[in-house]
Amino acid sequence: MPLKEQIESVRNQFLADIESFPQAPPLIDQLKSKYLGRKGLVAQLFSKMSQVKSEDRPRMGQELNSLKIELTRQFENKVASILAPGKRSPDEAIDLTLPGKAPRLGSVHILEQTLSDMKEIFKSIGFHVAYGPEVDDDYHNFSALNIPEHHPARDMQDTFFVDAKTVLRTHTSNVQIHLMENEDPPIRYIVPGRVYRNEAISYKSYCLFHQVEGIYINKRVSFGELKGCLEYFVRHMFGAERGMRFRPSYFPFTEPSAEVDIWDEERQEWLEILGCGMVDPNVLDNVGYDSKIWHGYAFGMGVERIAMLKYNINDIRLFYNGDIRFLEQFA
Ligand code: DAH
Repeated sequence: MPLKEQIESVRNQFLADIESFPQAPPLIDQLKSKYLGRKGLVAQLFSKMSQVKSEDRPRMGQELNSLKIELTRQFENKVASILAPGKRSPDEAIDLTLPGKAPRLGSVHILEQTLSDMKEIFKSIGFHVAYGPEVDDDYHNFSALNIPEHHPARDMQDTFFVDAKTVLRTHTSNVQIHLMENEDPPIRYIVPGRVYRNEAISYKSYCLFHQVEGIYINKRVSFGELKGCLEYFVRHMFGAERGMRFRPSYFPFTEPSAEVDIWDEERQEWLEILGCGMVDPNVLDNVGYDSKIWHGYAFGMGVERIAMLKYNINDIRLFYNGDIRFLEQFA
């Protein structure tokens, strides 16, 4: 059939259809897309233009354009005549039978959740929660913790410097010093917070992470109590069966020092989660506590590593890239 006749036929079909114009909004939409949609009959006619002889093309183009304009206008007139004045157009009509859109619910980030579990465990055995500065001076982050300038122990933690005397704290241990400077013993605190290290990034190390520091100072405090406290924590966090071991270690601010490893089910190897020890008398002297009378233990644990071990998360970077598919698993 020549294009001219096809145009006529579409016009007549449309006029018949619109005579028996459907009232319901979905049907009106159907009618509109049947003729005027992106793949509708009018568009199909337009796509046949390439087959038209070139001398006929301008005329056919005009025919088609006026068909489109005519149909559009008729369609709109019809819609307007059906709708009583003041009614919504069919596009805006509300279909009360459709299910509603549920608002998207967020959830607590898995790190925040882990932190809050950790706080609850320590609060249940008498620890208070305190916070301290993330940007601190060299003295609180290092010197007061028995890490003098030029001492090789400074290299244990690669540091981001703000200026020569100011650092992004490399651990939450700086807050031990602030707490003891501001309060007389006995004290018992945990300190959650962010720490920063200029380290090589890997599945278990990131430039930013979280720690929970703990410090307990009293007249009689033993290494046995430190062990008991950390065992209590691990059992409540990971359950009675989880592999856990103490290992002797070294920190300038504790003597003796130890580390605790937890068995990594995923990798089938030990992963260190914390350092701890008996507070070095030099640290107590630095804050003006009499180290002949006062003793204590301290620890600092990595929150990401604890969450990784508990929830079998195999890469620390997952906590920080905000991928909703990762986060949703813990909602
Ligand atoms: N600050 C240490 C670190 O970040 C962890 C640590 C070890 C904290 C022993 C302590 C402690 O309070 O007593 O590696």
